[in-house]
Formats: sequence, C-alpha cells, structure tokens
Amino acid sequence: MHREPVVIVGAGLIGLAIAYELARRGATVHVIDANEPGRAASWAGAGMLAPYTETPASPAFEAFCIASLERYPGFVAGVQGRSGVDVRLQLDGVVEAAYGEADEARLRARPRTRWVTRDEVRLMEPVLGAGVRGAAICEAEGQVDNRRLGRALLAACAALGVRVDARAGPVAIEANARRVLGVRGPLGFIPAGAIVNATGAWAGMLEGVPEHARVPVTPVKGQMLALAMPRGLVRRVLWIPGAYLVPRDDGRLLVGATVEPVGFDVRVTARGLGSMLEAALAAVPALGDLAVAETWAGLRPGSADGLPYIGGTSLGGYYVATGHYRNGILLTPATAELIADILEGRADGIAAFSPLRVHEGSAAAEK
Ligand code: GLY
Repeated sequence: MHREPVVIVGAGLIGLAIAYELARRGATVHVIDANEPGRAASWAGAGMLAPYTETPASPAFEAFCIASLERYPGFVAGVQGRSGVDVRLQLDGVVEAAYGEADEARLRARPRTRWVTRDEVRLMEPVLGAGVRGAAICEAEGQVDNRRLGRALLAACAALGVRVDARAGPVAIEANARRVLGVRGPLGFIPAGAIVNATGAWAGMLEGVPEHARVPVTPVKGQMLALAMPRGLVRRVLWIPGAYLVPRDDGRLLVGATVEPVGFDVRVTARGLGSMLEAALAAVPALGDLAVAETWAGLRPGSADGLPYIGGTSLGGYYVATGHYRNGILLTPATAELIADILEGRADGIAAFSPLRVHEGSAAAEK
C-alpha cells in the first residue's frame, strides 16, 4: 500500500466506500469534496439493488452488479457496526408488474425471477391496479436507503481515521510527466501517492488531468418525486411500465425516474414530473390522492459504452472510479473492493472497465 496518503476526490458513496475500504486495510486516506459529502447522485438515487430487474449493459457488467449485490450484507454490517447508522438494507424482493401481453411474455422468460399470477401479486401488493396480469419477482433484490448510507459511510470513515474535507471548493491534480504528486485546492497542496477520481458525472472535468488520462463522462439527469404514503401501502420495490416505486420506511414512496441527457441541468420540470406521475397513476390509481412530499433531480455518470471506468490510467498513481450510470449505489461495495485491490497490487482490474480503453484507438492511430 502507498506510504503517502491516498487522496480521493469526490465524497459520494463510491468515493467514501473506497476510502472506507482502504482505511480498513490500513492506508492513510484523505477525501476531498467540492461540496457536501453524499449529496449528488448518491443522495438523488432511489437505492434500488436490482441487477436482474434493471438489466445492465453487458455480461461483464451484469456479473459485477451481481457480485456487488452479494457483497451488500457484509458491507452494510461493517459500515453499520462502525457508524451506528442503520442504512435500512432490505433484500425482500423486487416486483416487476406486467400490464400487457408483451410485458408478460418478456417477464415470464426472465431468468432468476419467479412469475406470480395476478391474484398472487395482488395479495403481495394489494395496491396494484386491476389491470395487472401478473408479475416477475426477484427475491434476491431489494433496496438500501442511499441517503442514510452516505451518512453511515461518512461516520465509518471518521471512525477509521479518514480525513474528509467537505465544501473544499474545486481542486486540481498536480503531476509530473510520469505520475501524480498531489492535489491543490483552496485548502492548499495535499501530497498524494495515489489519487482516485470519484466525482461521478463531473469526473471528466477534473483540472490538471492530462488529456491522455481523461475519461469522458456524460451527465444523465434523473428526476424523482416522493409521495407521502400510508405505512405499508406499497411493500416492496415495484417496477411498473414507465416508472418504479420504492417504499421507504419513513413513509415516503419514491417515484422515479426520468432519463435525460441534458447536460448539467438539475431543474425539476413539469414534463418530468408529469411523465412519472402519469406512469405511476396508470398502473396504481390508488396513488392519486397522496400528497407530493418532495421533488428532486440528480445526474447519473454515463459512459459512451455503458460500462463504468474503474482502475488505473496512463498517468502513474491516477485512478478513476466513475461511469456507473444507473448502478452506482448497487456497485458501491464491489467498486470499493476492486479499487482497493488494484491499489494494493492484488488485482489488475476488469479489462472491460479499464479507463485505458478510452484512448486505445488513438494510441494505435499515433503509432
Ligand atoms: N437506478 C435507478 C435509476 O437510475 O433511475
């Protein structure tokens, strides 16, 4: 492990989980965030842990998502134990309801899920509208309260001696021709043996990174809303045509989410709310009388090929962990472990996720 501190830029779930994992293994870790920890996509997401329902982009990605889901109970036990914060991990199944013939055929054929009839699913989730034909349930899946997980990771990092500088303003990395030297920002210069860029949708814009080590990240906006729900009205995470519903035990029912490649725009719009409410009320008319408790939007970090960037780059000591798109919360434990293994020299990383793939074509063209 590096003798100089590992500096992690970005205190979202991924950045904090990497810090937590490295600190657990004995590293000196310093996390810097320009704003509030855990407040960007980590706060805006719904916390769904659903690799089978929310089909990932490729077999390699799917395997990584499944591996991360399997790590969740152990990861959460460790974080809760060190922080005292209950992150409300619930692996009690995700239900995708079918309303049309084509949906039914697709869901009946889906592996690792169990098809349940209309009567069965209405017993499980009485709120579903009369038009439901049946549902696929994946019992291994569920949810975590991502806002609580952010608080828990922050406390667990503090307990492990990780220094976290929040609201630190913009920083730039400093490097010589071969490798990183440290991070400079309003707080001064912090020397670093390694730097991990975990700034999500902003990861392509970190100052000081040479062109050959950059990864392109596209922000993909997701708008969401929460309804104030009588306890137990919706029991499990429910996918319905055009939306998903995530019941929280604080009485909120999250309804999500739009998928909009509109740059760094986090406005909540009438069209965005309208589309989610239309989908939700078409499938579950009983939601129509509930009060809207909250609306918000966040930015998913998208990559050109739909796969994350996790690993080292062509600049020595500079690592990237971003591009998780719709699966950042799910992939938090597996990403933290993979980056820690790479930094310790115990793993080369997963080839499909290597940040080096971005520049492979241009390196070949230059030869
Ligand atoms: N994973 C949920 C979303 O991206 O909307």
